[in-house]
Amino acid sequence: MTMVKFLLIFNFLQVEACLRTSEKKLPNLQTCTRESNFGKKAENDAKIVGGITAENNQWPFITRLTIGFDDGQEALCGGTIIDNNWVLTAAHCCDGASWINATFSDLRVSRTESKEYTFRASKIKKHPQYRASTFRNDVCLLKFNEDIIASDPDGDVQMACLTDTLPKQGSGCWIAGWGMTSFDGATSNRLRQATVKIMDKSYCLLNSEYPSSWIKREMICAGNLDNNGDGLTDGGVDSCQGDSGGPLICGIDGKAALVGVVSWGNGCASEGFPGIYSSAAYSSTYNWIRRTVNPKTTNAVNRALDWILNLF
Ligand SMILES: *[C@@H]1O[C@H](CO)[C@@H](O)[C@H](O)[C@H]1NC(C)=O
Repeated sequence: MTMVKFLLIFNFLQVEACLRTSEKKLPNLQTCTRESNFGKKAENDAKIVGGITAENNQWPFITRLTIGFDDGQEALCGGTIIDNNWVLTAAHCCDGASWINATFSDLRVSRTESKEYTFRASKIKKHPQYRASTFRNDVCLLKFNEDIIASDPDGDVQMACLTDTLPKQGSGCWIAGWGMTSFDGATSNRLRQATVKIMDKSYCLLNSEYPSSWIKREMICAGNLDNNGDGLTDGGVDSCQGDSGGPLICGIDGKAALVGVVSWGNGCASEGFPGIYSSAAYSSTYNWIRRTVNPKTTNAVNRALDWILNLF
């Protein structure tokens, strides 16, 4: 069953054990500054602070989102801090939401940890060309009036780096989320992470059972490659329900670069059906993010393009 990786917190949808703890830890990648993401060309790289290997804060740029609906239901998603006041998530997490809260410096859902803090998004901006029927452009920006990073007393909360470079076929990247593991009582609320391999679109189409028309240019397949040689990508690792909107992070030039956003898949972690991520590195998406967060980083041509996009 093809579905978005979205989970209503109190209404049972589909819960599978997918996102397994990886033995491989994230390498010591650098996080970014506002200047390197949105300023002039990264002349301030020397100021970049923060590694991501600390036990309790391997994912300083991840945030746990609670999505609220008018009927009182709530849902769980992930998001990535890309600026002091902005988080990137999936558009299907923003669809129909009446409010969205983001919790930072969080490790366990059930416990209110001493360091965690929560802000409510002041603006919810879905990509103007998001299509719920095809999951095209499944990205959404959340704006916060509060300073996300400056509010963290000890520097454990940082922003991921933006990139317009898609890593090569077979590159190892990382996913993380609070997507639920089971409904037999053995739930672990702790943030989990896994390693996945980036797939070229041609490799993905050749080795998966997705119809080719489903995998659009601005989507990325990632998961296990076909290691057993049966012509299908292997199962065993994936994002799953509740992980939607969370980061697909790759190490690019020693930096933790946000390459994609958890979007959809057929089931979770099944053979021949790798996870599908919305690309944050695809040029039109990358440019939409940059001009939405900081209109000054863009030019008149891009602003005109944005205006046209908003007509559809
Ligand atoms: C959402 O966040 C706001 C601001 O921190 C807080 O007042 C409110 O209680 C939160 N709502 C929920 C349901 O967590």
